[in-house]
Amino acid sequence: MSEPQEPSKVRAEAVVDLDAIRHNVATLRSRLASAKLMTVLKADAYGHGMLPVAAAVREAGADWIGVAVLEEALRLRAAGDNGPIFCWLTTPGEPLEQAIAADIDLSAGAPWEIDEIVAGVVDRPARVHLKIDTGMSRGGAVPEDWPALLKAALAEEKTGRIEITGIWSHLASSDEPKSPVNEAQVAGFLAAVDVAEALGVDPPVKHLANSGGTLALPETHFDLVRPGIATYGLSPFGRALPSDELGLRPAMTLRARLAMVKRVPAGAGVSYGLTWTAPKPSSLGLIPLGYGDGLPRHASSQAPVQVAGERRTIVGRICMDQCVVNLDDDDAAAGDEVVLFGPGVDGEPTADDWADAAQTINYEIVTRLGARIPRRYVDSGR
Ligand SMILES: Cc1ncc(COP(=O)(O)O)c(C=O)c1O
Repeated sequence: MSEPQEPSKVRAEAVVDLDAIRHNVATLRSRLASAKLMTVLKADAYGHGMLPVAAAVREAGADWIGVAVLEEALRLRAAGDNGPIFCWLTTPGEPLEQAIAADIDLSAGAPWEIDEIVAGVVDRPARVHLKIDTGMSRGGAVPEDWPALLKAALAEEKTGRIEITGIWSHLASSDEPKSPVNEAQVAGFLAAVDVAEALGVDPPVKHLANSGGTLALPETHFDLVRPGIATYGLSPFGRALPSDELGLRPAMTLRARLAMVKRVPAGAGVSYGLTWTAPKPSSLGLIPLGYGDGLPRHASSQAPVQVAGERRTIVGRICMDQCVVNLDDDDAAAGDEVVLFGPGVDGEPTADDWADAAQTINYEIVTRLGARIPRRYVDSGR
């Protein structure tokens, strides 16, 4: 990742407000009766930068941190995070011994995964959460295979090589809280817990909820919730229930400075393929960001930006490193600020606006921003 520069000299930057992150963690905590909070920081904290965000969420009271892959978990430990970390996605042959030595909780969804974990045990038991597939058909044991997984785990627990520390699953449709899928998954989870208890498996944490479950489905909270997107102030429900109605503050603002402004005559075609043509003499601004930075090319000639307080639209195709904004007759100059998206409180577009323009979800808009964009951390509360 490149080093942040002075804001006045920057080409482009993603400004991340750590105060907003802490506020969102507090908001999520306030939704919980007794459940603990696992903040999900995978994929570089959804593009916000894992290590600074980790420090902020721990400060705000995150009991656990959740990550997808081993490198993320080990990076947190190397940076000095000593709290509970759960890592749920590994493949055969990965260096699990490093994770076990670093006290990282791992997941197993099949007996062979228990074998893989046990092979990595040296001098302390591996901490393992058993995953039941309650209907999403991603990881985890389907109900027919669940007893075999429990028995394999129990046998290894008896040898002292593993400790069963959790039972968990994942919600497929919590972004639609009224979907019957949620109820069915809760029922499947409870049934799996019953089977486990009948065999003598009753670990300290059972967990199911992501952001949607945490915010809208208290019956999914169990002992621990795993919100990701809401931590960053974005709504898992999109337009149906926006962030401000959930008491969340979007933490990221993506801004750049115009690399050039110029006047073109009516009829001038813009960018590759000349897919957009100026209907009248127009000022065009060159934004030094493109799909190589993570802007979705699908948002070509659609996405909104803000220049000098005005909403403007990107015109023509988004290129690898740059794109063009139609400034009409605005009196803008090279070096002027352009805000691509932010919290939306000053009239700037939001990640949801970009998601609409690219026909995707706000998650993808922030997470796909690449390493070429420096992250700058601010703390509006301090
Ligand atoms: C296993 C697991 N738990 C929790 C989350 C967090 O989900 P969300 O960002 O919707 O809160 C994710 C992210 O997709 C996940 O894969």
